[in-house]
Amino acid sequence: MQRIQSREYFSGEFELPGDKSITHRAVMLNGGADGEAVVTNALMGEDCVSTISCMRALGAKIDVDGRTLHVKGTSEFQSGKELNCGNSGTTIRLLTGYVAGKRIEATLFGDASLSSRPMKRVAEPLALLGAKVKTTDGHAPVYVSPSDLHGADVKLNVASAQVKSAVLLAGLSADGETSVSEPVKSRDHTERMLAAMGANIYGQGNTVCVKRSTLRAVDVCVPSDISSAAYFMALGALKGETLCKNVGVNPTRTGILTAFDRLGVEYSLLNQRISGGEDIADILVKKSHLHGIELTAEDIPAMIDELPLVALLCAFAEGESRITGAKELRVKESDRIRTTAELIHNLGGECEELPDGFIIRGKKKLQGGNIDSYLDHRIAMTGAVGLIASENGGNIYRPECCAISFPDFFEKLGK
Ligand code: S3P
Repeated sequence: MQRIQSREYFSGEFELPGDKSITHRAVMLNGGADGEAVVTNALMGEDCVSTISCMRALGAKIDVDGRTLHVKGTSEFQSGKELNCGNSGTTIRLLTGYVAGKRIEATLFGDASLSSRPMKRVAEPLALLGAKVKTTDGHAPVYVSPSDLHGADVKLNVASAQVKSAVLLAGLSADGETSVSEPVKSRDHTERMLAAMGANIYGQGNTVCVKRSTLRAVDVCVPSDISSAAYFMALGALKGETLCKNVGVNPTRTGILTAFDRLGVEYSLLNQRISGGEDIADILVKKSHLHGIELTAEDIPAMIDELPLVALLCAFAEGESRITGAKELRVKESDRIRTTAELIHNLGGECEELPDGFIIRGKKKLQGGNIDSYLDHRIAMTGAVGLIASENGGNIYRPECCAISFPDFFEKLGK
C-alpha cells in the first residue's frame, strides 16, 4: 500500500523514463536486424524487460548497462521457444507477427491479465497472410507454426498500433505487398523505425504498405514517454507548474495535448526538435482553470493510454464531460472504463460508465480516499495524481504495478 498526501502546490522539473513503445520496437527490430545497435535511454520497465528476454530466447544478444542496451541481431530465430510476455500486450502482439514470418514454432504466453486480453484480433489478420497462429479460445497462450507468407490487404476495424505492427512485421517476410488500414491512425513508431532500418515501407493516410525487406540495425536514442510525463503534466495543470524534459511528441501520441486544449490547460512546447526520426520537446504546464470537454472516437487513439488521467482531469473541471468511442479501454491491463469510474468515485467524484466511455460531472474539490490499482499501472499512477490533488489524500492499494512502465514513479513524485 502507498500512502499519498494531498498537496496545496506541486511544481518542479522532471526527466521521465524512456518511451515504452519505442523501447519495445528498438529491442525487437534490432534483435532481428543485421548488425549491432546501441539503444540509449531505454525504458527498463517490466514490459520492456519481457521483450528483452523474449528476444534473447529467440537468439538476439542483448547486453544491458543501466539504460543503455547493446543489441546484436540474429538472422535466424530459434525455434521451439516458450516466450513469456509477462503483462505486456505490445510484446505478445508484435512478437506474434514477427515470429509468424520466421518459419519457426513458438509459444507466446503471459500473466493472468494478458491471458484475458484479445488475441484473435492479431491471429485473424495474420491468417490472411497465410500465417499459422492458433490462440487459446481467442487468448494467450498463442501457438505459431512455420508457414510461407504472402502479401494481403488487411483492414482493421479497431485502431490498434499493436495489431497494425504485428501485420507489418509479418509483412516483412511475405511475398508481394502487404497493406494495413485502420479507421483512425494509431501510433506510428513501427513505421518510422522500419523506414530508418531500410525496410521497403510507405504510408498514405491511415494505410501503410510493406514489402519483403531485411533490416539494418540502427542506434536509437529513446525520448521520454509522454504517457509517463502526462501524470506530471496533469499535476502542473491542477496544482502549480511542471516542466517535463525531452518528451516524445510524435503527433500520433499527443492526444493529451488535444485534451489539454479543450480543457483549457495552459501549456507550451519548448525547445522543439527532431531526433532519430521522432519529434521531441520540453513541456511546460501551468495551473489552469479547467472546464468540461467532449471527446469522440477519432480523438481516442492518440490518447489511449492517457484516458484514465484525462477522465480524472474532467472530474476536477467545471461542468460535464463526455468521452465516447473508447470501447478499447475495456480490454487494456484492466477494464479501464470500470476501474477509472471506480477511481473517480472513490475520490469523491461523479463518473458514470458508458459502454464505450464516461460521463463525468466535474467538481472543483474531491475529498480523496482509497484506490485499488487492480494491478493496472495506469490506474495506480492516475490514482496518485488524484490523491495529491484531493483535499485529504489517501492510499493506493497494489501500487507495485507502476514498475510495468515507470519503475521509480513514487520516488519521482516524492521529489
Ligand atoms: C502500444 C499501443 C497501444 C497502447 C499500448 C502500447 C504500442 O495499444 O495502449 O500501451 O506500443 O503499440 P493498442 O495499439 O492495442 O491500442
